[in-house]
Amino acid sequence: MKILAVLYKGGKAAVEEPRLLGTLENRLGLSDWLQSLGHEFIVTDDKEGPESVFQKELPDTDILITTPFHPGYLTGDLIRNKAHKLKLAVTAGVGSDHVDLNAANEKKIIVAEVTGSNVVSVAEHVVMDILALVRNLIPAHEMIERGDWVVADIARNAFDLEGKVVGTLGCGRIGFRVLKRLTGFDCKELLYYDYAPLPAAAEKEIGARRVEDLHEFLGQCDIITINAPLHEGTRGLVNKELLQHVKKGAWIVNTARGAICDRIAIKEALESGHINGYAGDVWDVQPAPKDHPWRTMKNPLGGGNGMTPHYSGTTLDAQKRYADGTRDILERFFKGEDQIPANVIVADGGYATKAYGQRK
Ligand code: NAI
Repeated sequence: MKILAVLYKGGKAAVEEPRLLGTLENRLGLSDWLQSLGHEFIVTDDKEGPESVFQKELPDTDILITTPFHPGYLTGDLIRNKAHKLKLAVTAGVGSDHVDLNAANEKKIIVAEVTGSNVVSVAEHVVMDILALVRNLIPAHEMIERGDWVVADIARNAFDLEGKVVGTLGCGRIGFRVLKRLTGFDCKELLYYDYAPLPAAAEKEIGARRVEDLHEFLGQCDIITINAPLHEGTRGLVNKELLQHVKKGAWIVNTARGAICDRIAIKEALESGHINGYAGDVWDVQPAPKDHPWRTMKNPLGGGNGMTPHYSGTTLDAQKRYADGTRDILERFFKGEDQIPANVIVADGGYATKAYGQRK
């Protein structure tokens, strides 16, 4: 079979650090194994436009592997008009929105991801981002690097997490783990908004309360963390209109997908001071263009921006888990065995998961 992988370039770092498995150079650690089985394995980071290696190799590819960190966007057009032989699209990681899932269903392509592989990695990152924003860490560090020392300029916008209301929009594997990690901070309340309620025992374990109306949920949170997949129901969800329901001075952390938030609406809300901070590692296009407003936007006090490149789910620990998980998915596929059910996003022309929106 022909297997095509789109992975980010590791360069010198990947040569020096072999545990950077999810890179162009280290090929998810799959090369020798796939070759020993007689498969052709092509790996590229060149993914944009009709002349890219990705699009040129796609027509006779049987299995595509991509990561959310450097997504090979498998659009409906590519699925319908170029991916003639594609049977399986594997996400080495979590989050398969870079594949047009409805088009994959039309063509009965299986889409599978390594569910759970980096959920702890992301949950830890969210807690870090929340603390960085609420405590005004980044401007404080920048001040030190500049050689300045004006405590009041930082302290005027630094708060404790204790006593704040934190809510997660989407409370699946990551959202739940974020709230669980926050239980030690004596927050005023931990809330969640999700069409799928947590099991009662899980709700009780972390002392979380479900709010069923999105506007009410937003109006109650001091800190909002977004942990829902990107699908038709969440694309552009956090727009100018919705932001009006967010408490003035709230902080937003989005490590789910950039396109859940409207680029300009977020920038304007931060610059006007309606929200006090925005952090996360996901962007509406990746890599983000150099002039993307989220790189440099600031609140009126010159802080409130905790954006990073997309790396929360690609720690070295996570890379090992999603490389192993990718191999397991391929192994099962080659042997004609069933996939682990939680890993399957779409198969046999339909959604196998309830996480990508409410459908009949
Ligand atoms: P999950 O499938 O365990 O949970 C997702 C939850 O979101 C489900 O409970 C679902 O009911 C809920 N949901 C879906 N649509 C919703 C909506 N419109 N409103 C409210 N809730 C909604 O997924 P998991 O593992 O928690 O991951 C969530 C997302 O996080 C992934 O789909 C991916 O986009 C992102 N992610 C980001 C990573 C990073 O490196 N930044 C790494 C891993 C995941």
